[in-house]
Amino acid sequence: MPFYRDHIYPSLVHLLGNPAPIRRIRERIVPWAHGTVLEIGIGSGANFVHYDPAKVSKLYALEPNPGMIRLADRQRRRTALDVEFLDLPGERIPLAPGAVDTVVSTFTLCTIPDVLEAIRGIARVLKPDGKLIFFEVGLAPDPRVQRWQVRLEGLYHLLFQGLYLTRDIPALIRRGGFGVQQMEAGYLAEFPKSPSYAWWGTALPQVREEASTTPS
Ligand SMILES: C[S@@+](CC[C@H](N)C(=O)[O-])C[C@H]1O[C@@H](n2cnc3c(N)ncnc32)[C@H](O)[C@@H]1O
Repeated sequence: MPFYRDHIYPSLVHLLGNPAPIRRIRERIVPWAHGTVLEIGIGSGANFVHYDPAKVSKLYALEPNPGMIRLADRQRRRTALDVEFLDLPGERIPLAPGAVDTVVSTFTLCTIPDVLEAIRGIARVLKPDGKLIFFEVGLAPDPRVQRWQVRLEGLYHLLFQGLYLTRDIPALIRRGGFGVQQMEAGYLAEFPKSPSYAWWGTALPQVREEASTTPS
């Protein structure tokens, strides 16, 4: 359904993807980005306004959906950032090894089809002292919520073009070659809980974990 994918889905993400609890976390974590930054799956550009233009010298904005890029281009005009759009999937990042200081992924690792390939690609393009900033939804710790996540995953997958509710994102980040540096986790809404369990924090390529999870 190309019309749904290129027109309806971008508008859905734009309208529903940034309620206050999510925006507050974006406001906290996106300003951690510095130097040359790659954001994968930029969507409609909800993070753009939260980057600090004094710290970010260049933003590679990767997004395979042209409808999303159209919306994100509007957000770009609201910032002083030097943005270059890359219209490719996150499994094929067209940057040289060690090209970026920071990678940002918000609600993309929970959507991207070959997530491990994408995480390994992120590790490849990061400098050895670079960092991944993530904010992702996925598998809740409560068995009752997990059962609803399994039941509803097909519907969310359809409506949100590939979104998974049952991925254990921190486990995938570790399997892809990162150590979690700092992380918080919790439900972003009281109801419905199944699409709202999230983790946010930073991960470092191939280092030992430095801190533990702090549930909020
Ligand atoms: C739920 S939206 C999140 C958008 C945005 N990051 C945000 O925080 O609002 C998921 C995004 O991942 C993008 N996406 C899907 N498959 C992808 C892929 N293979 N590589 C990169 N991005 C992808 C979608 O087009 C969409 O923009």
